[in-house]
Amino acid sequence: MMKKIAVLPGDGIGPEIIAQAMRVLEVLKADGLAIDWEFAPLGGAAVDAFGSPYPSLTQNLAREADAILLGAVGGPQYDNLDRPLRPERGLLAIRKDLNLFANLRPAILYPELANASTLKPEVVAGLDIMIIRELTGDIYFGQPRGIAVNELGEREAYNTMRYSESEIRRIAHVAFATAMKRGKKLCSVDKANVLETTEFWKEIMIDVAREYPEVELTHMYVDNAAMQLVRRPKQFDVMVTGNIFGDILSDEASMLTGSIGMLPSASLDENNKGLYEPSHGSAPDIAGQNLANPLATILSVAMMLRYSLGAEAEAVRVESAVKKVLAQGLRTADIYEAGCEKVSCSAMGDAVIAAL
Ligand code: NAD
Ligand code: IPM
Ligand code: MN
Repeated sequence: MMKKIAVLPGDGIGPEIIAQAMRVLEVLKADGLAIDWEFAPLGGAAVDAFGSPYPSLTQNLAREADAILLGAVGGPQYDNLDRPLRPERGLLAIRKDLNLFANLRPAILYPELANASTLKPEVVAGLDIMIIRELTGDIYFGQPRGIAVNELGEREAYNTMRYSESEIRRIAHVAFATAMKRGKKLCSVDKANVLETTEFWKEIMIDVAREYPEVELTHMYVDNAAMQLVRRPKQFDVMVTGNIFGDILSDEASMLTGSIGMLPSASLDENNKGLYEPSHGSAPDIAGQNLANPLATILSVAMMLRYSLGAEAEAVRVESAVKKVLAQGLRTADIYEAGCEKVSCSAMGDAVIAAL
């Protein structure tokens, strides 16, 4: 059965990194993988073309597709638009619309990049953490939210951190099931000492744990977790946390791998339909210069092949190609070190295609 991919390049470096990822998909298709794709705008590109960051054309394509591949959205030229028109709202809308509640962000250190990390090589060597971030709840979506004048006549802004029991249960099951397939260690990150929402989160995690007696569940406050990630990151196997803590901790973890340009992600619904995107943003500071690292996006393609397209062999083929180019000493600027060969975004794409 032909599988359909919705491709949403987005803004900033989005089109540049997606162009390299598409070359990978073209090779796999030419070699017989039954896939097809169609492009649509999301974010600022969609505001420019259709006046909405998640227009109905994109929504219809994303809903009917088996998987979605996204570059990144956002840019300074959109930061003063009304909130509903902001590119980031388009991303939040597609995640919510498709019920993509489980965000998997694997922080893996490729041995060749041990010196690209800002941490000592021995601290990060062999690192392999799976961060599971709840993606459709928390303070990102909680109501009420807004800016209003309070009883004292002063302007006041507010957001609401909230999680329902079912929202926590379903992400807990994803986390425990993931831990079962890995090292059977799960660390749930919360701020239960202060916030009721995450105290409830912890209570549900403990309850779900009874169904997974083989998994060792631990709990850590988010401030300590941020510290432990740079102190002794290899103590972690699978981490599970809410939307906002997961956003922050996954960016932090990306630097353990050498660069945020290396961290892919999958955002899955209950049936493993997914949206795949690098964990980084649209990098306006380097957009249009052919400088971006396309590997997080190419590794996101591998995740898409594995989780949504049932193509494990092809996923391994793509990951092996990435390992090979790193072993060849090719580096984009963000992971460059002396003795290696500095390459552009498209030249990195050339090398991956050759290695495939
Ligand atoms: P960012 O991730 O875009 O950039 C942070 C830093 O990392 C920049 O210096 C950038 O050059 C660098 N960087 C990021 N990706 C890189 C890559 N592939 N190769 C080399 N360097 C890379 O975060 P930001 O600057 O905070 O945000 C920029 C815009 O992106 C904002 O509009 C933000 O809302 C948006 N954003 C979008 C997503 C997404 O689409 N999923 C994620 C994060 C931020
Ligand atoms: C990410 C981004 C998004 C988030 C923004 C752009 C809405 O930072 O995908 O990590 O906060 O989820
Ligand atoms: Mn983020």
